[in-house]
Amino acid sequence: MSVTIKSQREIDLMREAGRLLAIVHQKMGEIIKPGISTGKINDYGEKIIRDFGCIPSFLNYRGYPASICISVNSEVVHGIPSDSIILKEGDIVSLDAGLIYKGFHADSARTYGVGNISEEAQNLIDITRQSFFEGIKNATDGKHLNDICSSIGSYAMQNKCGVVKELVGHGIGTELHEAPQIPNYAMNRRGIKLQKGMTLAIEPMLTAGCPDVKWMSDGWTVRTKDNSLSAHYENTVLITDGEPEILTLLSEENQ
Ligand code: MF3
Ligand code: CO
Repeated sequence: MSVTIKSQREIDLMREAGRLLAIVHQKMGEIIKPGISTGKINDYGEKIIRDFGCIPSFLNYRGYPASICISVNSEVVHGIPSDSIILKEGDIVSLDAGLIYKGFHADSARTYGVGNISEEAQNLIDITRQSFFEGIKNATDGKHLNDICSSIGSYAMQNKCGVVKELVGHGIGTELHEAPQIPNYAMNRRGIKLQKGMTLAIEPMLTAGCPDVKWMSDGWTVRTKDNSLSAHYENTVLITDGEPEILTLLSEENQ
């Protein structure tokens, strides 16, 4: 599949999808505290999505059984929320959410600390977030995809984080996953030329230790092989002539 270029009407719909998803994240972030279950966070996030008249992108996607992917500590992505998984002080938790608004998807992820967390954990969260911003410095019409990928990867590695290779970002629009795939490390080619109107879900997934991951027997949860901590930061981004527009970030947001 080739990379889709969105029309002005489609961009407007994706912008609204992104804005609503940013509010979903903001509200989920507010209820994270020691003692809450990941099942409860999922139910709360799903309710907000539905109250907006939107559809959770992930529920039943290839059989995924929940609306929000919730991954704790050494889990990288695609953790399955449960009423029996209780967050405790010092944990870090990644919330990955997607919604469909009038046929268009938005997709974004944040990692939060639960109560007080270690300096190592906070560093990992900060570096993961910053690696996204390093990447999108190159998300401009006329640059190439690898300019994004390589700047994410080199920032992460300079800061001694592992870059998960098995999972990648993606184009997004009427489908949750569109072309191109967006690795978080340098490719051995320039990749596609970035063009105004492309919408990309850019999502570094980093580890505090070795970058290798394994799949759990639930068929979904991905975790680090060495049990080191992992963090995830994702936004849906619109390529323009100038600065990229981050569709899933509220202007007052500092996440
Ligand atoms: N945000 C994830 C991604 O970009 C989506 C999770 S897919 C699901 O690939 F199946 F787990 F829902
Ligand atoms: Co994604």
